[in-house]
Amino acid sequence: MDLRPHIRTIPDFPKPGILFYDISTLLAHPGAWKSAMEKLAERVRPYRPDVLAGIDSRGFLTAAPLALLLGCGFVMVRKKGKLPGPTIPHSYALEYGTDTLEIQADAVEPGQRVVLLDDLLATGGTAGAAVTLLRKVGAEVPALAVVMELAFLGGRARLDVPVESLVQYD
Ligand code: PRP
Ligand code: MG
Repeated sequence: MDLRPHIRTIPDFPKPGILFYDISTLLAHPGAWKSAMEKLAERVRPYRPDVLAGIDSRGFLTAAPLALLLGCGFVMVRKKGKLPGPTIPHSYALEYGTDTLEIQADAVEPGQRVVLLDDLLATGGTAGAAVTLLRKVGAEVPALAVVMELAFLGGRARLDVPVESLVQYD
């Protein structure tokens, strides 16, 4: 199934001049969403993940159903202050200021193969920070997988893991 007709673009969101690639219409279509998850499962399976990690918040939408399909665990990489108990943080630079991602200290066993999931790869800043954080807790990160890749922003080149994406925009 062609996923593109199910992905909506909305101009001038969140700022003037930005074209927003909206996954909501894909999520709302049960056949298209199921097909997207099945395709992603085929792409991720060869990396033999023990665990999938989803990035807060839209990465949860892809990682959790995919973990069920692949029969592996699911862990959350969250924006700071959301996770209880001991956490490991990683701060990274934004265009203006910094942001922090966190993971629970016991979420991953050292040496586990953790494939990272998000809905969208844009500049790669978020995914790069999540890869660094996962490595901090001892994970091996064999790949990043996303539904949509804004290839014109060059995120893939900023990452040191292979990227699997279902739909690319040039
Ligand atoms: C969006 C998207 C990715 C990230 C991609 O998340 O879901 O996580 O931006 O951008 P980048 O490659 O330039 O870092 P956002 O921060 O908007 O938050 P959300 O997932 O909670 O909606
Ligand atoms: Mg996000």
